[in-house]
Amino acid sequence: MKFFVDTADVNEIRSLVETGFVDGVTTNPTLVAQSGRRFEEVIGEICELVPGPVSAEVTATDTEGMLAEGRHLAKIASNVVIKVPLTVDGLKACRILTGEGTEVNVTLCFSAAQAILCAKAGATFVSPFLGRLDDVGETGMDLVHEIVDIYNNYPDFATQILAASIRSPLHVVEAARLGADIVTLPPKVFWQLYLHPLTEKGIASFLADWEKTGQKILEN
Ligand code: G3P
Repeated sequence: MKFFVDTADVNEIRSLVETGFVDGVTTNPTLVAQSGRRFEEVIGEICELVPGPVSAEVTATDTEGMLAEGRHLAKIASNVVIKVPLTVDGLKACRILTGEGTEVNVTLCFSAAQAILCAKAGATFVSPFLGRLDDVGETGMDLVHEIVDIYNNYPDFATQILAASIRSPLHVVEAARLGADIVTLPPKVFWQLYLHPLTEKGIASFLADWEKTGQKILEN
């Protein structure tokens, strides 16, 4: 399973990269707005920090506009992935950009039927939004389960399942159990993955007992 980071905050990404666990980055217009920075500049910096796929989302809503924006953004760096919305126009743009050799992440997937269309359009990634389904009283993880089952039936479907709108470590664990290819993690959730109160408690008691021995592993 790969870990992408879901943020446009370059400082956060820099700290996360140091852990050695970052395989890619996803951004969206909301995250870019939160960064308060110029879109192209932020994407360029992220692409230098992370050699893996970096998703940059178009804002046009028609195919021609998406193609123009996607081709422009793809020039920023060779690891830019163009993110398009799951609409008729978005999937037309997906097919064309994919044909040109640009990787595409189809975002805002909320149904298995939509995920089938993504695979047929040749998307590199499909992003089912788990948390937002949970928010409206559905079980987001059921969607990942359905997509995994369906894609397993068709070995020629090469689209990778990128579980998005992740809100907790439980989402990460469940997505892994189901076999999602990637999870994209908000930095807060990434850091939460390390935590367990028994780990902290265990360290404290080992150190207290070690203190009683009066020893040091390195004498100088
Ligand atoms: O980047 C897309 C997705 O992960 C957004 O998550 O928390 O805004 O639903 P969220």
